[in-house]
Amino acid sequence: MILLTGGAGYIGSHICMALLDAGFDIVAVDNLSNSNRASLERIQPICGRRVAFWHADIRNEEAIYEILRSCEVTAVIHLAGLKAVAESNVQPMTYYENNVLGTVRLVSAMKRANVKTLVFSSSATVYGTPTYLPLDEKHPLRPTNPYGRTKLFVEEMLKDLHQSENDWRIAILRYFNPVGAHESGLIGEDPMGIPNNLLPFVAQVAIGKREKLVIWGNDYETPDGTGIRDFIHVVDLASGHLSALSHLKVPGVLTANLGTGSGASVLEVIRTFEAVSGRSIPYVFGERRPGDVAICYADPMLAEATFGWKATRSLTQMCADHWRWQLKNPNGYRGT
Ligand code: NAD
Ligand code: UFG
Repeated sequence: MILLTGGAGYIGSHICMALLDAGFDIVAVDNLSNSNRASLERIQPICGRRVAFWHADIRNEEAIYEILRSCEVTAVIHLAGLKAVAESNVQPMTYYENNVLGTVRLVSAMKRANVKTLVFSSSATVYGTPTYLPLDEKHPLRPTNPYGRTKLFVEEMLKDLHQSENDWRIAILRYFNPVGAHESGLIGEDPMGIPNNLLPFVAQVAIGKREKLVIWGNDYETPDGTGIRDFIHVVDLASGHLSALSHLKVPGVLTANLGTGSGASVLEVIRTFEAVSGRSIPYVFGERRPGDVAICYADPMLAEATFGWKATRSLTQMCADHWRWQLKNPNGYRGT
């Protein structure tokens, strides 16, 4: 049995789907602070299997221990956490408490239950401002915001854990920019309030919920002046977890990027989204967003070499699937 913390969230719900499709037994835990239970309820009609769900907080060690024990969990995929960069600057302690302390409690419960296989959701944000590109796993780690530091601290903590108890099997996966949705259009990203990230904002402009996109900066040293990111389809990202998990047969700590290896600019994303949706995306140029880097994309070779995973879906498919989800669910899960 595999436990997913943060299993009701955007990425978690897609991993639940992938695991069920592959025949695994799973249980999802979430405090629903940034998600809706409907994400998991919608999985059953697609893959014919129900997701066992526990409404619990990872900081509650007793509750997590009880779930690990009673569900006979053998491995944990740990996605639960807060992820808004700007919010982390104004509420750093909330981020340290949730993301770092939450992981300390989770690991304590795992130790007690003798569950020592863990896949952790880290982020490309641990690299900070790139000193060279593409970003490989050896690039210096200098996150520029509290959110990024919570990810780095947890990475370091997990390495220390393995140093002291070397029967742990740990995969640290550094995600680049997950976008898109399951091709059914039934599950996808459902941001609360004004979206922070590009794709959800673009999708809401396309459907008429927002008047226009503000492009934060058109004076970067990039071909069209707008920022470049490594967008990765969430379904590819989910399959990366399955591959990493099947590789965790022997103890150790594996750290790998999950990205496509190529970047797209904000303007390229807009053009692609317009093409697949047939809608126009009005935009204006604004000031640079503090903390943003010009270009960020992965060297994904290590994941391919070690656990045989490679992203395959194109930017067109990412936009098409994101648009299908938006069109079918203009109010996200709140319409259900
Ligand atoms: P999400 O907010 O949709 O999912 C996170 C889930 O964790 C939510 O369902 C939330 O309710 C839950 N949660 C938060 N704190 C919790 C707690 N204390 N106890 C139990 N549940 C809790 O975000 P996501 O995009 O699916 O991200 C999943 C993970 O991937 C996060 O750790 C995030 O930092 C990481 N990540 C995301 C991105 C991205 O751009 N989406 C990029 C890199 C890394
Ligand atoms: N952007 C806009 N307007 C918007 C939103 C975004 O122009 O309304 C631009 C940004 O300036 C950037 C690009 O679109 O150039 C991508 O921005 P996102 O906010 O979608 O993504 P980020 O690369 O800033 O950050 C995301 C996650 C982080 C994660 C990081 C990993 O939000 O949590 O990817 O690379 F750490």
